[in-house]
Amino acid sequence: MLSSRFSQPATELIQKRFSCRVYQRRSLDAQKQQRITDIISSLSATPFNSHIRMKLLASSEQGHHNLRGLGTYGFIKNPPAFIAGAVRKSVKDMEDFGYLMELAVLHMTDLGLGTCWLGGSFTHSSFAKRIELADEELLPAVIAVGYISEEHYPPADWVRQLANARSRHKWEYLFFDGSFTQPISRETAGRYAIPLEMVRLAPSASNKQPWRVLRTDTGWHFYLQRTPGYGKGLASLVVHGDLQRIDMGIAMCHFAVTAQELGLTGHWQINPPELPVWTGQPEYIASWVEE
Ligand SMILES: Cc1cc2nc3c(=O)[nH]c(=O)nc-3n(C[C@H](O)[C@H](O)[C@H](O)COP(=O)(O)O)c2cc1C
Repeated sequence: MLSSRFSQPATELIQKRFSCRVYQRRSLDAQKQQRITDIISSLSATPFNSHIRMKLLASSEQGHHNLRGLGTYGFIKNPPAFIAGAVRKSVKDMEDFGYLMELAVLHMTDLGLGTCWLGGSFTHSSFAKRIELADEELLPAVIAVGYISEEHYPPADWVRQLANARSRHKWEYLFFDGSFTQPISRETAGRYAIPLEMVRLAPSASNKQPWRVLRTDTGWHFYLQRTPGYGKGLASLVVHGDLQRIDMGIAMCHFAVTAQELGLTGHWQINPPELPVWTGQPEYIASWVEE
């Protein structure tokens, strides 16, 4: 299974990835397009077995005319290609979608390409047409992909600078030990400190970082702390999925590929711990159970 076989360590790829919004003005060469097609057609395994298919929509060597109509509302400059994904409606469709599409993102990073998730700022109807979206499917987001514009390359040591410069919540705001009143330290997280740090570097819609992880003696439990009002109002008019549940799938992907790389074996399961109930409690999503 190709799913997480990268040529570089996953931790490097996660640190290198950023939302690339300016691309070089050139189409992806034929070889790259073939490689991308091979990668996305090999990705299918998800934590909860939702059925997902992806399609590469790329401009031809002659220009960007065959991407015409795939509007992105001007947020993304010169994208030469997109990966569109369709997921069959199911209980954990959004999480699985985030998980698998993020694996594709990390593979694109491995190929040296830039990517950007687009959850709201794309014309849904034209992408739906190109992927021949079925009634039982959803197309919640697409990924822009292309050669990173030179202006994104600062001089030396840009990877580490990039990872350090990210605006992310502090560790103690996101990760907990036994109860949501007790933050977990890097020391007590032990070997899982790295998978957790990779969760912290994950992309999320509007950078809301809704992931919360609670360790108990039964596993690492992933929760969604919803941003009040997010996905409602005007913005929801162009949103076709639950973006914050997609964020959770992305975080699960970062956690799992990193754990796998460190030899920390486990699997995803629905196994919520018993907790006291309080208002504003985060929503339970899934648990990583160590083997
Ligand atoms: C599900 C999802 C949807 C997103 N939608 C958009 C979008 O529509 N437009 C955009 O410019 N960025 C979008 N982003 C990118 C986020 O804004 C970005 O990941 C976040 O600000 C963190 O920055 P970084 O990816 O550079 O680390 C989206 C990210 C995710 C995960």
